[in-house]
Amino acid sequence: MNIVDIITKKKNKESLTDEEIKYVVNGFVSGEIKDYQMSALLMAIVLNDMNDDEVISLTKYMINSGSKIDLSNLTNVVDKHSTGGVGDKTTLIIAPIVSSCGCKVAKMSGRGLGFTGGTIDKLESIPGFEVNLSKEKFIEEIKTIGMAITSQTESVAIADKKIYALRDVTGTTESIPLIASSIMSKKVASGSPNLVLDIKIGDGALMKNLDDGRRLANLMIKIGKQNNMNIICLLTNMNIPLGNNIGNSLEVLEAIEVLYYNKESNLYNLCIELSSNMVSLGLNITYDEAKEKVLDSLKSKKAYSKLLEFIKYQNGDITKLPKSKNTYEVKSSKEGYLSNLYSLELAKLSMNLGAGRQNKEDKLDYSAGIIINKNINDKVEIGDTILTLYSNKDFPSIEEDKLFTVSTTPIDSYDLIYEVIK
Ligand code: URA
Repeated sequence: MNIVDIITKKKNKESLTDEEIKYVVNGFVSGEIKDYQMSALLMAIVLNDMNDDEVISLTKYMINSGSKIDLSNLTNVVDKHSTGGVGDKTTLIIAPIVSSCGCKVAKMSGRGLGFTGGTIDKLESIPGFEVNLSKEKFIEEIKTIGMAITSQTESVAIADKKIYALRDVTGTTESIPLIASSIMSKKVASGSPNLVLDIKIGDGALMKNLDDGRRLANLMIKIGKQNNMNIICLLTNMNIPLGNNIGNSLEVLEAIEVLYYNKESNLYNLCIELSSNMVSLGLNITYDEAKEKVLDSLKSKKAYSKLLEFIKYQNGDITKLPKSKNTYEVKSSKEGYLSNLYSLELAKLSMNLGAGRQNKEDKLDYSAGIIINKNINDKVEIGDTILTLYSNKDFPSIEEDKLFTVSTTPIDSYDLIYEVIK
């Protein structure tokens, strides 16, 4: 077999065979296939797509490229994955809810790159918090307290790590087959038989429209079925940020507040939906029965206590969250109603304040970020603070119109969840 022939086949819009895909994945991991050859093939895939059989083969060999976590001795295990959004701290809220309802949450998470935040970065903003658990410690924690979150171990889905790093620097991230195989190879190898996927749609997300979101969902469900997994996909709105805080320690703080105060918001409502679907899968009960348990866990503060227990178990000290030296208030020059908050621009601003990485090597300022002081449709007077920026750097110049809109009339309500696909 020859990599140039395979690249040429994909360039000519032909399908690759299972054997050819095996050759590509194994050859790239061993170093026989070079970065420049793999880049050419990835670009041909982005442009000419893959059929479902090709994606299933690709995922299979990516799973087989590394080790697998064996959770078969545990019952009621459930995992969750989000395709990434702005202010998305749902894992920090949902994992304790679902665990306090009697499920075991086994979660391997990643770091953020560019404007997306990663759960591991958020947890690392808590002084002392250990994010690199050994397999044994990961499983022991799940057995003891019902949940654990660790960074992706080096040995799981090795092919994905190499391919993802290349996609990131060759403009080949935006491909549904590549995204589906990347996510599902890690999820299958992580060992949970049940998975809830939160596929974000909109301005601040990888999937810009519902049709692409549906294709991704159906493809991931198909891959899941081949691997004996039960999957539920929620297609959810990512046009405005999730919750009020963006930035690592600010998001940890918001997760604690959501679990303590149970204040209604788009974030709170989404967490209830995701958790209810997880509990339904994990305990094999109906959605309505699961939702009742979720609401009880929130109201009784069992989920709040579980979050504190989890942070302590992984050696974090929540009393010492870092605070930035400088704050800056962005005020409205108009009166009316807050009608839009631009996720992507807010995410880029947060990254520039120090909360995100432009390059893999960049060091994060865990205290940096943004608090959104008003919610959509809140009444706004001239001079009202809409955003508070936190940083240890100087503040960039701010163009209010790029970050939010104040209109003379309130907007119609917007959909938080577009569809649930099983
Ligand atoms: N998350 C992943 O793990 N992989 C992708 O390709 C996109 C999002």
